[in-house]
Amino acid sequence: MLCSRATARHLARYAKRWQHTSARPALNSVTPDDIAHFAQFLPQNAILSTLSPVSVAPAEIEQYNSDWMGKYRGKSTTVLRPHTTEQVSKILKWCHERRIGVVPQGGNTGLVGGSVPIEDELILSLGNMSKVRSFDPVSGALVADAGCILEALTEHIATHDHIMPLDLGAKGSCQIGGNVSTNAGGLRLLRYGSLHGSVLGLEVVLPDGTILDNLSTLRKDNTGYDLKQLFIGAEGTLGVVTGVSILTSAAPRAVNNVILALPRFENVLPLFKSTRRHLSEILSAFEFIDRTAYELAVKHGQGKGLTNEESEGAECFVLLETSGGSKEHDEEKLNALLETLLESDPPLINTGVLSQSPTQFASLWRLREGVTEAVSKEGKAYKYDISIPLASFKDVVDATKEQLRKKGLLHENAVKHVLGYGHVGDGNLHLNIVAAAYTQEIEAALEPFVYELVSSYKGSISAEHGIGAMKTHAIHYSKSAVAVDVMKRIKHLFDPHGIMNPGKVLE
Ligand code: FAD
Ligand code: MLT
Ligand code: ZN
Repeated sequence: MLCSRATARHLARYAKRWQHTSARPALNSVTPDDIAHFAQFLPQNAILSTLSPVSVAPAEIEQYNSDWMGKYRGKSTTVLRPHTTEQVSKILKWCHERRIGVVPQGGNTGLVGGSVPIEDELILSLGNMSKVRSFDPVSGALVADAGCILEALTEHIATHDHIMPLDLGAKGSCQIGGNVSTNAGGLRLLRYGSLHGSVLGLEVVLPDGTILDNLSTLRKDNTGYDLKQLFIGAEGTLGVVTGVSILTSAAPRAVNNVILALPRFENVLPLFKSTRRHLSEILSAFEFIDRTAYELAVKHGQGKGLTNEESEGAECFVLLETSGGSKEHDEEKLNALLETLLESDPPLINTGVLSQSPTQFASLWRLREGVTEAVSKEGKAYKYDISIPLASFKDVVDATKEQLRKKGLLHENAVKHVLGYGHVGDGNLHLNIVAAAYTQEIEAALEPFVYELVSSYKGSISAEHGIGAMKTHAIHYSKSAVAVDVMKRIKHLFDPHGIMNPGKVLE
């Protein structure tokens, strides 16, 4: 059988991945002598190691070696949990000299295998660095340790009537340093933009231990290269983010949300256009869930949406949020929108339910945010996080389903569901394939199929989750050879010994 040039290239890389022969630099394992060195400047409770004289239960290390999905597993013997930037600096200086691989780990909620080691690299967990350093209620600039949990920051600034510019389903565990390092998008990007815009400054420890203090709170600063941008989305491959300065916004006076049931997917695009026209500046989220995603969320108890009668016959659902200045005014606009949608010929929606209380508001959001958890309760998920034209969301889900059917894999014992959900307002689809188990056969049916499909739309194979360990072999589907080469040169400049998160982002 003939295969395309891209397919042949992919298969070669794929084979290499299974043989574990990637061109990783030669790195050393952590030894008892290294542990003795770390013990000179770290308190005992900051060192978790099977090599340490202080015994540690294997299960304690295991949780740092396994990712959120249970798909990626490392073999690290040692987790360090520093409390200060200076301690991080000393750890990296030592690892740089000793050529020990280091995997920075935040909340370990990443979905591309970036936060756990591939081999036995040292894990540097930021969880003990969790202090808010300052908050300026006039400018909205918040400066915090990288290990602060996103939800804790949200709660902290709520007392000053401010909100974080990002929100995601993993907010209870993910850390602001992890968010910055993955350039997380999430549910508010439509309104507040990406972290490339809202991050004002970073404090980063470079691979040789140098502390780069770029923790500015200025909105404007055109003094040469904007170095912080390099670390936003670098997935821990260029250094360890230890502090984040971020612009937060005044909390909206009123928030509302609505769930809409659509008879056909084709209505999503006109619905989006109409919604933007009607709601303009108060629209703060426009999220999409297909029927399978909706049913899985309901099945696994993730929030309450519509009654069975209301959801019957709907091919997909949209969750709209408004954030504005006056509840009555915003509700008026929303009701006018609902009327227009119902009165259009044919109606763009079957029904729409406006939340009537803070509990219902939270429940509607839970339905959307809970899809990830529902999927993981249902089975083993292959997750493709792609940017493609909005009009092709359904075609991509259908084409993937057809590919799996053709390969004889669409049944209870192999692939149980193929579903799509995501951030329609940002052109970002989450294509999930829920299987009974992770197998090479399913992966071979999906890859490079999905990547080639995305590439045919000139899309991105990673809209917001990153490359991690999952997609290093596939980066060329979205980046030119020249771009990858420049990235490699930047990586070498910062990290000549290749100790930072080896095997991630770049092969
Ligand atoms: P980790 O998972 O610990 O690490 C992620 C990557 O960043 C790794 O490569 C790691 O090495 C690196 N890293 C972590 N901390 C640092 C640091 N301080 N310095 C340098 N490198 C570091 N993502 C989205 O974009 N949008 C969503 O809507 C979204 N929703 C999610 C919902 C659920 C239920 C789950 C489980 C995940 C979701 N994610 C989402 C993915 C994930 O939560 C984000 O990528 C998040 O930003 C990761 O943060 P973390 O602290 O858990 O980082
Ligand atoms: C989401 O939008 O729910 C997240 O990115 C997580 C996921 O893709 O499941
Ligand atoms: Zn997402």
